[in-house]
Amino acid sequence: MIRVFVCSCFGITEEQVREHAAEGACTPRQVASASKAGTDCGSCVRRIQGILGRGGCPRRTALESSEPVLEPSVEGVAAAALSTASAATAA
Ligand code: FES
Repeated sequence: MIRVFVCSCFGITEEQVREHAAEGACTPRQVASASKAGTDCGSCVRRIQGILGRGGCPRRTALESSEPVLEPSVEGVAAAALSTASAATAA
């Protein structure tokens, strides 16, 4: 397997950026929070943006395709949690 380094300051590979994106990072800042990539010289930020913009971010791809991000059952749980929280604040 060939390692393609995106961030030479911290030794972060393209594969690692994709893994962070799969775990929910959709912006270079979020990738930086997870890996420090882009937080030193900053020369890799555009490459990270490019990876995230080429289908590297599953959440963004889902949003752009207008597919529901939350499953209906998850939305029901979230709505129930919100109603419980608002009932608790009203009391
Ligand atoms: S190459 Fe990524 S911060 Fe320098």
